[in-house]
Amino acid sequence: MIQHRLLGICGSLRAPSVNRKLLNEAIRLYGPADVQIADLRLPLYDGDLQDAEGIPQAVEALSAQIADADAVLIATPEYNKAITGVLKNALDWVSRTDANPWKAKLVAIVSASAGRTGGEAGQYSVIHALAAFRPRMSSGPMLTVGEGYKQFDEDGRLINERYVDKLTQVVETLRAEVDDARKS
Ligand SMILES: Cc1cc2nc3c(=O)[nH]c(=O)nc-3n(C[C@H](O)[C@H](O)[C@H](O)COP(=O)(O)O)c2cc1C
Repeated sequence: MIQHRLLGICGSLRAPSVNRKLLNEAIRLYGPADVQIADLRLPLYDGDLQDAEGIPQAVEALSAQIADADAVLIATPEYNKAITGVLKNALDWVSRTDANPWKAKLVAIVSASAGRTGGEAGQYSVIHALAAFRPRMSSGPMLTVGEGYKQFDEDGRLINERYVDKLTQVVETLRAEVDDARKS
């Protein structure tokens, strides 16, 4: 049995990012999988750069990672109630590659933010930004982790059982959808 191929994308570049912790927890709860983590340290999209040097290798690599994955798990904060610039920049770059790797791709989004709403508006903003590429959004529940800075222990584990339960539902739904997609 070939392992599920999972691509994790964090919408924050910070080393101590709570969304990176959330992504790690999601991957842990997903269970056995061949996991890749995307690197969003890309240059700012610039048409002049593309004309002069072509699409950066890191963007082509990201596009291939998305294409190769059975499912993409995105954990991201919201910046000012919207998608982070880092994530939008990556989506814009990938949209300049030849194929559309997002087409019909299973995607689950979770978020953690400092505010009480846990990045809910930001999640809708990510859905909006992805819509043009026609992915298949996972049908699991929406998980928004409020006051993210106090939700993880020293080992990066989610403390609150309510969030653990919700995150488990998110990844179990995604796993079942990958299984179904592989059968058809
Ligand atoms: C530019 C910027 C905008 C932010 N806007 C929001 C916001 O709209 N809502 C919110 O709850 N937190 C906001 N925050 C706080 C982030 O939620 C907090 O810094 C969070 O830890 C960032 O996620 P990370 O830990 O994964 O990097 C913002 C932070 C930055 C740097």
